[in-house]
Amino acid sequence: MWTDFPLFPERASTMAERVDALYFYLVGVSVFFSALIFLLILYFAIKYRRRSEAEQPALIHGSMVLEVTWSVIPLILTMAMFSWGAVLYFQMFRPPSDALEIAVVGKQWMWKIQHPTGQREINELHVPQGRAVKLTMTSEDVIHSFYIPAFRVKMDVLPGKYTSLWFEATQIGEYHLFCAEYCGTKHSLMIGKVVVMEPAEYQNWLSGAPPGETMEAAGARLFEQYQCNTCHAPGTGTRGPSLVGVYNTRVRLTAGQTVVADEAYLRESILNPKAKTVAGFQDLMPLYQSQISEEGVLQLIAYIKSLAQEAPRQ
Ligand code: CUA
Repeated sequence: MWTDFPLFPERASTMAERVDALYFYLVGVSVFFSALIFLLILYFAIKYRRRSEAEQPALIHGSMVLEVTWSVIPLILTMAMFSWGAVLYFQMFRPPSDALEIAVVGKQWMWKIQHPTGQREINELHVPQGRAVKLTMTSEDVIHSFYIPAFRVKMDVLPGKYTSLWFEATQIGEYHLFCAEYCGTKHSLMIGKVVVMEPAEYQNWLSGAPPGETMEAAGARLFEQYQCNTCHAPGTGTRGPSLVGVYNTRVRLTAGQTVVADEAYLRESILNPKAKTVAGFQDLMPLYQSQISEEGVLQLIAYIKSLAQEAPRQ
């Protein structure tokens, strides 16, 4: 319906229908009560109009039944909004663990994307159909926002921090990709497209695009280039903690508390290692702030993650 005048973008992800269903519920409740209130105002204005100068209205002392009814029904309707929204929120914020991980860096005014196998693209994102995709995103300058209307997903992309977003595309095709946060003069040109392909075709596309180094290999190269290996090589790690198997585990800090070594922690520990020093180690590591690009940090993290997969944790 309304093909010439689409009110809604296409629905092309597993999340799209769920988001729309909640949205229609919100619109339905709002329209129903707006209409009810307007009709009642009109009806009461006519029915209870003053008919003569001397007319005295009857005195009313209130009605318990009426008051309880108009409190309980809205309570039920709004609690439904809350719990439905909360369930959807958790689904949107918990990517499946087997998701394909793709790195996204925003800058004025483009989206730079790198696939785990090394392929890079700008303002285009190729993804396989029917597979969960998790984007780990950061910005080189100001706040941007990664928005794919057809997938009903949008997430701020912030400098100095990782945010993530996940989706599973259900329909083959090309979809709009927008920056949804005003980020300067050419904000409106910070657009692109998402290309959803059959899994086999996606593999073809991957092998067709010049792969360069994989994210892991690039990370391993940087690991040597910045001489991280002199302190963090497995086995020799007396000056710095070994990084084998560290990803997604709990790390004890000098101050006594623990943190999960996720992407955000690894990023902070590379750029500003003094922030959270691991217990049992001295605060010797230099700061790498403004020495490694955001893409470089994402590659280093991909390498550290690969250490976790290859070697079981001791
Ligand atoms: Cu980037 Cu708007």
